[in-house]
Amino acid sequence: MAAPYVKLNNGLRIPALGLGTYQANLAGECAKVVKNAIDVGYRHFDCAFIYGNEKEIGEAFQEKLKDGTVKREELYITTKLWNNCHRPDRVVDACKKSLNNFGLSYVDLYLIHWPCGYDSQEGDDIFPSKFTLSSYSFVDTWKEMEKCVKLGLTKSIGISNFNHEQIERLLKHAEIKPVVNQIEVHPNLNQKKLIAFCKERNIEIVAYSPFGAPSRPWAKPNDPVVRLDDPTFVNIGKKYGKTSAQVILRYLVDIGTIPIPKSTNKERLKLNIDIFDFKLTPDEIAIIDKYDCNGRICSAEEMKNHPEYPFNLEY
Ligand code: A2P
Repeated sequence: MAAPYVKLNNGLRIPALGLGTYQANLAGECAKVVKNAIDVGYRHFDCAFIYGNEKEIGEAFQEKLKDGTVKREELYITTKLWNNCHRPDRVVDACKKSLNNFGLSYVDLYLIHWPCGYDSQEGDDIFPSKFTLSSYSFVDTWKEMEKCVKLGLTKSIGISNFNHEQIERLLKHAEIKPVVNQIEVHPNLNQKKLIAFCKERNIEIVAYSPFGAPSRPWAKPNDPVVRLDDPTFVNIGKKYGKTSAQVILRYLVDIGTIPIPKSTNKERLKLNIDIFDFKLTPDEIAIIDKYDCNGRICSAEEMKNHPEYPFNLEY
């Protein structure tokens, strides 16, 4: 099964579903998972410098390129600038470092991972306990992201975890518009307002943690859970001969997002991309909409005191 494509505001296209590679449950298995994913039809891979697995994923790409399973132009590879490299003179180098990790000459999409830059002296303090107010903003960082496009290091650029006010501010100064905003979206946090805001500005939404990231290490006992055994999802699935996980992914597509589910299991990898032969009705979408409870599970508590912390606004 292959995913169809979504057209971006720069005329390029992105597969409508990808594989998430944050390694909570992928540690040590990443290369195998990526190769399995390519074999079952995935072409879109969502990576990040901070996940620490760009090298391993790059080796999987190289193997599949070499054995002829895929051509480079068929793969859609995203990676992200980590917070400690927002300082303008660090951005291009950080992008080159990721390319070097992958063994690639370009990525398809380079994202600012968070609006919060860490202004540490050395630039190698990945999770500093205190932030200093930066003398530059993500607008300055964006100018260097644009340079990455001009240098041919990435085809497109975008943002992740930006709220609507931050997007507005960025758009005022951007010469090259962000093609996507990658944010947490699942039934417990359906992000309808931020999705509508971005769509009005021709910015696509990539949806991370589509199942509510059940294997995240920071889960707390009372966190809201996306329940795959919920009879609502199960029963909608029965109508279409699909699983509840497939219903959730289709919901995310139907509300206008590009989900990036993770799975270590080849059968589930196959199921997760097998969602393009059915569509939920408006009534079914309305039923799942009711699960929204502001159930954010990736709230990045460690950034809470940062002046650009994105989750203090409603959207
Ligand atoms: P597994 O790797 O055993 O398949 P998220 O993308 O929101 O972070 O969720 C990933 C989690 O969801 C993983 O724990 C993964 O487990 C599980 N998962 C992925 N696909 C499915 C599926 N089709 N059915 C059930 N669980 C799934």
